[in-house]
Amino acid sequence: MNVFGVDIGGTGIKGAPVDLDRGALTQERFKVLTPHPATPQAVIDGVHEVVSHFGWDGPLGVTFPGVVVDGVTRTAANVDKGWIGLDARKLISERLGMPVVVLNDADAAGIAEMAFGAGRGRGGTTIVLTLGTGIGSALFTDGHLIPNTELGHLELRGHDAEKRASVKAREDEDLSWEHWAHRPQKYLAHVEMLFSPELFVIGGGISRKPEKFLPLIHGISAEIVPAELQNNAGIVGAAMRAATL
Ligand code: BGC
Repeated sequence: MNVFGVDIGGTGIKGAPVDLDRGALTQERFKVLTPHPATPQAVIDGVHEVVSHFGWDGPLGVTFPGVVVDGVTRTAANVDKGWIGLDARKLISERLGMPVVVLNDADAAGIAEMAFGAGRGRGGTTIVLTLGTGIGSALFTDGHLIPNTELGHLELRGHDAEKRASVKAREDEDLSWEHWAHRPQKYLAHVEMLFSPELFVIGGGISRKPEKFLPLIHGISAEIVPAELQNNAGIVGAAMRAATL
C-alpha cells in the first residue's frame, strides 16, 4: 500500500509517497524551503506545493515541529506563533481536499524508526531523539508511543536544553564537535536519569554524521545508536499514520 507523508521542518517542507511494506519512499522526495516567518498560511501553501508535485490525491500524513493533540497544534517553538491553538488538520484537509492526520515530527520519526529502523523489534523503553533545529523526542514502551513528550525543552544548566544541545546551537555558536559534545552528553545523562531507557536512537540532521558525534559521548548506560531512516523518518512515520485514516 502507498500513502503520502510530508515533514514540516525548520528549514524544509519535504514529502514523498511511501511504500508501507518496506517503509521506503517510492520516489525521490520533493522539498520546498520553509517560509520565514513560518505562518500557517505560508507553510500550508508549501505543503500544497509538495503534494501537488506528485499529483497525490489520497490520505495524507503531515508532521509538525510542536505539540499536536487531535489535529490541533498547541506549541510552536521554532515556527510562527500563529500555529498555537490552530486546528491544523482541518485547515490542511480543507485546503488540499483530502483526509489528513497531523502529528509531532519526532513522534513520526520515532514511529518509523521503531517499525523499520534502529528500534525495530526492541522492547522496554526506547527514546528517539532528533537533534536538528530543535530537539524532538519520542518515548516508547514496548513499542507503544507516549506522544508529545517534548524532552527537548528540559532545563539544562538553566537553559532550555535545545538552545544548547541542538545541532543549530553548534552551528550558531560555531563550536567544534568536541566543544559541543559535552552538551548532548549532559543532556543524555539527564534524560537517562529520568527515564532509564534501554536504548537511545539519535536522529535528525545529526544521524547523517554519527561518527562525528557518537564516539564523543561517554558514561551513558543505555545503548546509543544512530537512526537508520535518517531524514526520511518523518515522512515515513507521517505516511504510516495516514494509512490509519
Ligand atoms: C518542539 C518539538 C519538536 C522539536 C523538533 C521542539 O522545539 O517543541 O515539538 O519535536 O523541536 O522539531
